[in-house]
This record gives sequence, C-alpha cells and structure tokens, in this order.
Amino acid sequence: MERNDATMPLVAIFCAAIMAVLLLWQFNAETAPKPVAVDPAVVASISKDYPVLGKQVYEAGNPAKGAIACQGCHGAQGEGGAGPKLAGDEKILKDPAYVYTIVTKGKGGMPSFEGKLDDKEIYAVANYVLHSWGNTVEKPLTPDIVAAGQSKIDPAVLKNRGRMVPEDLKLPEIFLGTFIMVLLSYGLIGLYSHWAEGAELHPGIHKVRATPVATLLIGTTMALTVLFTILFVRQMNIDYQGWAAKEPVMPNVTKEGFYSAMIILMIAGTLALYKKYFMDDEVVIEDATGEFPW
Ligand code: HEC
Repeated sequence: MERNDATMPLVAIFCAAIMAVLLLWQFNAETAPKPVAVDPAVVASISKDYPVLGKQVYEAGNPAKGAIACQGCHGAQGEGGAGPKLAGDEKILKDPAYVYTIVTKGKGGMPSFEGKLDDKEIYAVANYVLHSWGNTVEKPLTPDIVAAGQSKIDPAVLKNRGRMVPEDLKLPEIFLGTFIMVLLSYGLIGLYSHWAEGAELHPGIHKVRATPVATLLIGTTMALTVLFTILFVRQMNIDYQGWAAKEPVMPNVTKEGFYSAMIILMIAGTLALYKKYFMDDEVVIEDATGEFPW
C-alpha cells in the first residue's frame, strides 16, 4: 500500500507560515500611529513661546474654541485639585511625551483638547507644565520627542483590533487569516495521518472492544440526540407560530442554531463510538495485534 506522503502538508504549513509573516506585517503597518510631521518653524518657536503662550493657555484656556483652563483642575501652582498634582509629578518628568498624549487624547476625567487647542498651544502649555513650579526637563518638548516617545503601535487601535472588532480589521487581513487557518488545518491533519499510518502498514481487522463505559456513552449520545431533536422541533414550532402571529415575533435563531448543532454533534458522537467500540472493521493497522495507533 502506498504510504501517506508528508510533503504536501509540510508545504501547506510552510505557506501558512509565510502568510502569517505577511499578516503580521500588514497588521503592524495598519496599526502603527501616523508619523508626526516635524515642522522646524514649530520647533523653533516652541522654546520661545511657552513661557507666555503656555501660561496663558494654562490659566485661561482658549474660550473661543471651547478649551477650558488647566488650572481649574490642576491648580494655579500645579498643586492639583480635580486633576492630579503636576508640580514635581515624576510620571511626566520621566516621560514628557505623555503630556502631549494626554492633552490631545484625554483620559478618564481629563478632557481631550484635540481640535480645541492648536498644536502650537498644546506644545506651549505642555512645556509650561514641564518647566514650572520646580519642574524641569533637559530639552523642551518638541514634535520629534513626541514621535520618538510614542510606542510603535497605537494602543487604542490595537485594543479594538485585538478584540477583532470587524470595522478595525482590513479585508486582506481577514483573507490571510482564513487562508492560514485552512492551510494549517490541512497541514496538521496531513502530518497526523502520516504519523498515524506509520512506516509498516498491514491490513487487519479492528476488533470489537465494547466496554460498559462505551455502552453507557453511546446510550447517552443517542438519548441526547433524541432530546435535542425534540427541543429543536419544539423551537421551530414556536418560531413558525411567532412568524405567523398578527404581530410577528422574531424567531430565536440562537436556540435553533444551538439545538441543530447539538443534534449533529450527538449523531457524530454516536457514530464515532459505534465505529470504535461496536463495529468489526477492516482497517490498515500498524502491527498485527489489531490495535490502532490511537
Ligand atoms: C476637567 C478637569 C481637567 C482639566 C480642565 C484638565 N485636566 Fe489634566 N487631568 C485631569 C484628570 C482627572 C487627570 C487624571 C487622568 C487619569 O490619569 O486618569 C489629568 C491628568 C493630567 C496629566 C497627567 C498627570 C499624571 O501624572 O498622570 C497632565 C500632564 C495633565 N492632566 C495636564 C493638563 C493640561 C496641560 C491641561 C490644560 C490644557 C489639563 N490637564 C486640563 C483633569 C483635568
């Protein structure tokens, strides 16, 4: 008898691996934050502007655009209030780029100022905070520092995509993911069957080995098949009646689906148990004892 060849399964697994690399690359390319444009004019003006413009934004906000003042929550001297104390705040002194991120994106009780302050005002107020009330950082915060300080992948986007929120997954990613799963299943099943057939193949008879446990199990699966069939028919009846009613009722698709899936599972279980424990079968086996390799 011809031996089961492992070449194609290995090729499939290899292709799946290449596709997985492509998928990761695509995923990272889609998820990476937009690069921050570094405008030299902004960089030059930042160090000059923040003591005045930054103080003004911190103390008065920008009422014309609906930006409320920082000091209302963080205190005139950065001593804190509704918002945390900013004077001597280790967190922002260690990671100045975080000030930009939290002012633009907001977080919890901290409002987002994106669209309410322009970039110049945001850098000014961030630097004002980083250089006031005893706070000091080596270099003023500029767009290149923000760009370098951001992680490679935007956590907010990653969270949505990690949860497989469909709008956040791109079509090529879904295709690649599906191909990978199909190829991997084929490859792994192929390898398994290659292994299970073994090197030496003999035709033989697989003997009945019905045990009390097997009898109990097959009784259970048969009973459950009947039970789920009754439940399924009952549910279909309810749904048809709901459908025909004067005020149509939505059919309970979840229940229908669940019962039909359980029926198929139970029938499959019954058949598998029958084949393994109750049916004499001509099989290809590894040795002469009639034992399957599994
Ligand atoms: C409505 C109140 C409020 C206003 C206005 C406000 N903040 Fe905040 N801010 C908060 C709160 C609350 C937090 C804590 C957020 C968290 O970590 O959950 C916070 C956090 C911060 C942090 C991070 C501090 C840390 O250690 O985590 C910085 C920096 C900051 N704000 C700066 C500003 C600046 C600059 C402005 C003005 C442009 C501003 N905030 C306006 C309430 C406010």
